[in-house]
Amino acid sequence: MKAVRIEKTGGPEVLVLVEVPTPTPGPGEIRIRHEAIGLNFIETYQRSGLYPMPLPTGLGQEAAGVVEAVGEGVTRFSVGDRAGYCTGPAGAYAEASVVKADRAVHIPDAISSKVAAASMLRGMTAEYLIRRAWPVKSGDTVLIHAAAGGLGIILTQWAKTLGLKVIATVGSEAKAKVAGDFGADEVILYEQEDVAARVREITGGLGVPVVYDGVGKTTFEGSLASLSRRGCLISFGNASGAAEPLQIGRLSRMGSLYVTRPTLNDYVASTEELDDSADALFGLIAAGKIKVEIGSERPLAQVCQAHEDMEARSTVGANILIP
Ligand SMILES: NC(=O)c1ccc[n+]([C@@H]2O[C@H](COP(=O)([O-])OP(=O)(O)OC[C@H]3O[C@@H](n4cnc5c(N)ncnc54)[C@H](OP(=O)(O)O)[C@@H]3O)[C@@H](O)[C@H]2O)c1
Repeated sequence: MKAVRIEKTGGPEVLVLVEVPTPTPGPGEIRIRHEAIGLNFIETYQRSGLYPMPLPTGLGQEAAGVVEAVGEGVTRFSVGDRAGYCTGPAGAYAEASVVKADRAVHIPDAISSKVAAASMLRGMTAEYLIRRAWPVKSGDTVLIHAAAGGLGIILTQWAKTLGLKVIATVGSEAKAKVAGDFGADEVILYEQEDVAARVREITGGLGVPVVYDGVGKTTFEGSLASLSRRGCLISFGNASGAAEPLQIGRLSRMGSLYVTRPTLNDYVASTEELDDSADALFGLIAAGKIKVEIGSERPLAQVCQAHEDMEARSTVGANILIP
């Protein structure tokens, strides 16, 4: 089968499509023939070396397709079932992958493989961020950075289903329209405006109880300054680079604030949590309450260009590869 490998870290050119033996599932494992592969920003960190991985390695942690082989002892899936995964192992940029059966989820008929591949990792992240990382209640105002990105679009729509008011930030006028179309109530162009000042203006000086920040370095200070007393900064990504170290005493001086740095794996650690998260996501998509925006769809062989697009900030919504 064809699969992408990296031998060394670097720019998009280190992603090379090669022929490899099709793997055989061991006990407790299944092989999924991919119909669509999800691209995620984290893979640019892994490729560049920001998040080190043992090399050589495959890349990609999310794909959807059909189960074509099951290993010994697997009862959760049968050959022919539609299945997807988004917590690895690294190697989803390929025609097929072997994954542990208890880390894969069933894909309902109402959800296409393209939509599943475009939504599982970001959608299940949105699920834990909005439902479990910090208690929010209907009527709360929240700040969501990079709201026109793949995750931002899903998070914004999920927030709206819970009755939250969303202040969104984006990098361009075009993305401001996207954020508004997906339900953002207020949109801030974060490279042109003072985010915290605008948030205070919108909230009558109070600030917001929670900020969802996947941008990192360039937004971190503004995020802290946008919080209301005892509010929480959920720092879940580094699209602009890692934030500077935080001196913990500042949290007391800024209003007894909280900061958390969560990751999906810790919120879908058990198969039950994984299934609950996937069910909640697929249920909202099937009900039409969350629309998944597939910003770009490229053949697997164009993986280098797909990474270039992500890093150039030219993409809206989620990007997928088709094997
Ligand atoms: N912790 C977790 O569990 C978890 C899980 C999944 C994803 N994530 C994180 O969530 C974030 C969003 O992921 P995504 O895949 O949906 O990506 P994305 O939002 O589609 O892309 C990142 C966006 O960040 C903004 N950005 C600001 N400064 C940037 C810079 N210097 N370079 C590139 N982008 C910049 C851009 O939007 P503008 O043009 O509007 O500024 C860009 O479109 C990422 O940081 C990712 O690592 C975390």
